[in-house]
Order: sequence, then structure tokens, then C-alpha cells
Amino acid sequence: MMPKCRVVVLIGGSGSNLQALIDSQECINAVSMVSVVSHRPDAYGLTRAKNANIPTVVISHLDYSERDAFEADLQQAIDNFNPDLVLLAGFMRVLSEKFVSHYAGKLLNIHPSLLPKYKGLHTHQRVLAAGDSEHGASVHFVTSELDGGPIVAQIRVPVLPKDTEETLSARVLKAEHHLFPQVVAWFAQNRLKYDQNIVTLDGKRLTPQGLQLSLPTMQGIVS
Ligand code: GRF
Repeated sequence: MMPKCRVVVLIGGSGSNLQALIDSQECINAVSMVSVVSHRPDAYGLTRAKNANIPTVVISHLDYSERDAFEADLQQAIDNFNPDLVLLAGFMRVLSEKFVSHYAGKLLNIHPSLLPKYKGLHTHQRVLAAGDSEHGASVHFVTSELDGGPIVAQIRVPVLPKDTEETLSARVLKAEHHLFPQVVAWFAQNRLKYDQNIVTLDGKRLTPQGLQLSLPTMQGIVS
């Protein structure tokens, strides 16, 4: 049997994506969650990790005045677990080029928009303000450009006429919980690769927008 892919998950908040990864049968088969690292001591995701018996580490950005020192400790905390893959799942700190290049080809982020639209924060609010008819989430390999690395896959949800930021973000988050475990499973199964700026799945090069996933059912998503 192939050894499982060692994954470190970086979080900063609720950790609902972490939970989706913990619960995913495909990830259970192919992934070993070796640590959850939070940049906030009060992140609820730490409780989720503890409940799943995953070792946790807190590297609080508030304890550092310099980004370099924060990143050096963060990198050490991650590398102690010798990961094959590092995930940004609600980790709300911008990372330097040096840090990102240390994890070249094995750092994935989930972002709540259909990249390249709406990089950065407050994506749901911006989608509503623009009057877009659809929204979604993207998983991409991380490069030093904020939310700018090559996209692996996206999932789309409709924007409904009565949507508020709350209803729309809840719909996108449910879709994220389907998207992220799928992409992580591909990586863990050695099917997804990122090398020299080229992303391939099963040896085939992906288009710039990545794979377009659809939800198994829209039930419960459009409500
Ligand atoms: C998600 O919307 C993710 O796309 C973004 O941060 C949020 C994290 O949510 N990067 P959670 O902590 O996984 O619930």
C-alpha cells in the first residue's frame, strides 16, 4: 500500500474546511493529517483538530512584530511534521515569497471566489455589490502573488435575488466543503502535480481556470 500523504493544515478561524477534510472518505483513505497550525489561539478549528486527535500548534501572529520572525517559527512548526502537502484553510496572513517558495508545488489555498475575480477580502460583499449572477470558490497552488497562483479547480453557486452576505457566504462555504477535499485527495493520490508553473491532473495539463466541479446535488445549497 502507498504511504499516506502527510498533510499540515494552516487555519485561523472556524475550521469548517478542516472539518470537511477530516470527514472526507477519500481523504481518510489517502491522507494522514499530521498537524493543524493556527495563527490565532482562539480559532475554533483547534477544537475540531483536538476532537479528531490531530496534534495542534499555535503560532500567534500577534506575538511577533516582524513578519520574518513569525514566518521562521511558522515554517519550523510545519517542517517538524515533515509534510508532503500544506493547506491554507482560512489562514488569514499574507505569506512572503521566501516562505511560499520553500513549499513550492505543495502549498494549496482555498479562496471564496471564482478567481481571478475578487482576490483578497470581502468577496461575498463585492459579488453582491457588482450584481453578479454566480459566485463560487477556487483551490489554487500558492505563489507569492496574493490569491494569484495557478487554479486547480473551481465550484460555482448561483447568486439569488434575495441573497445577503450571510446567505451567500453560507452557500459558498458548503460548496467549498465539497471542493477542497476533492482536490486534496487528487494530490494525495499522486494524480495532481504542480511543476515549473504547470498544473497537471493524471498527466493532463489543466486550463487556466482549472477543473470546473459541480456539486453532487444542489439540494441544501440553493435555499
Ligand atoms: C473560507 O471561506 C475559505 O475559502 C477562506 O477562509 C474561510 C475559512 O473558513 N480562505 P473555515 O475556517 O474553513 O470555516
